[in-house]
Amino acid sequence: MGIVKTAKLVYEYLKHDEEGNVEAVNRAIDGVDIDIEEGQFIAVLGHNGSGKSTFAKHINALIVPTEGTMWVDGLKTDEEQNTIKVRQTAGMVFQNPDNQIIGTIVEEDVGFGPENLGVPTQEIWERVNKSLESVHMTEYRHHSPNKLSGGQKQRVAIAGVIAMHPKCIVLDEPTAMLDPNGRKEVIKAVHELNKKEKITVILITHYMDEVIDADKVYVMDEGKVVMEGTPREIFSQVDKMKDLRLDVPQATEIAYELRKSGINIRADILSIDELVNEVCQLK
Ligand SMILES: Nc1ncnc2c1ncn2[C@@H]1O[C@H](COP(=O)(O)OP(=O)(O)OP(=O)(O)O)[C@@H](O)[C@H]1O
Ligand SMILES: [Mg+2]
Repeated sequence: MGIVKTAKLVYEYLKHDEEGNVEAVNRAIDGVDIDIEEGQFIAVLGHNGSGKSTFAKHINALIVPTEGTMWVDGLKTDEEQNTIKVRQTAGMVFQNPDNQIIGTIVEEDVGFGPENLGVPTQEIWERVNKSLESVHMTEYRHHSPNKLSGGQKQRVAIAGVIAMHPKCIVLDEPTAMLDPNGRKEVIKAVHELNKKEKITVILITHYMDEVIDADKVYVMDEGKVVMEGTPREIFSQVDKMKDLRLDVPQATEIAYELRKSGINIRADILSIDELVNEVCQLK
């Protein structure tokens, strides 16, 4: 079993009327079966409302399945005695870093998580040092988070999660509020954590360029996983992605247009470098 596994996962949001009767049922997750191998970098794509955040909240036991099962590191998330362990195993990073940073000094903020876990003081400092180092924020350790850029704040939020020594981090559109530079900083830091610390990464994003280097991509639509594969396998299906109201990386799109106009070029191009290389070889 992988680090995150689901079997026939279903989640329904219920709307109640004034008397408390169920007025409407919204099936946000509709029979999802996935198995994520430890150490992988996973991307989750899907149009607005496809169920990505609802799925993410299950991994942290913020919500539990209506039907079916979710395991995190082999623990069923709906068993109450597992909640704390599940939350320690899978850390969450959300869109807005301002909602996640509570400390008035960067290093204090990063130390909050391990302090709450009852980690001894000496070890807290070791974890804070290492976590700040891993996201390249050591030089800002005595700063106030308020004065940091969005990308820096988000990296502090990530350090705060890492300091709790999770095996897995789930990032729900962590770059949605950042400028292009901030986006790059954050994605680079997350890739490093995956490569160096072997932390499993589950990245939910609307930016296709952030997906290119993932090991595997899941595409969601109306609560279901409708595509899964490597970025190359997913993005080469440009028409299918467009049907799902999703973009593909810019280079893939250009190659697709060139092919449509009769130029014989590979369909599975992901980066500008690959595109240039292909175009230069055309006769
Ligand atoms: N708290 C809630 N109460 C009721 N319905 C909800 C709630 N949160 C989400 N939903 C509904 O569940 C479905 C899935 O929503 P979810 O937020 O998981 O999608 P998403 O893929 O994360 O979308 P986005 O890309 O906009 O973040 C949508 O129909 C949404 O309206
Ligand atoms: Mg969402």
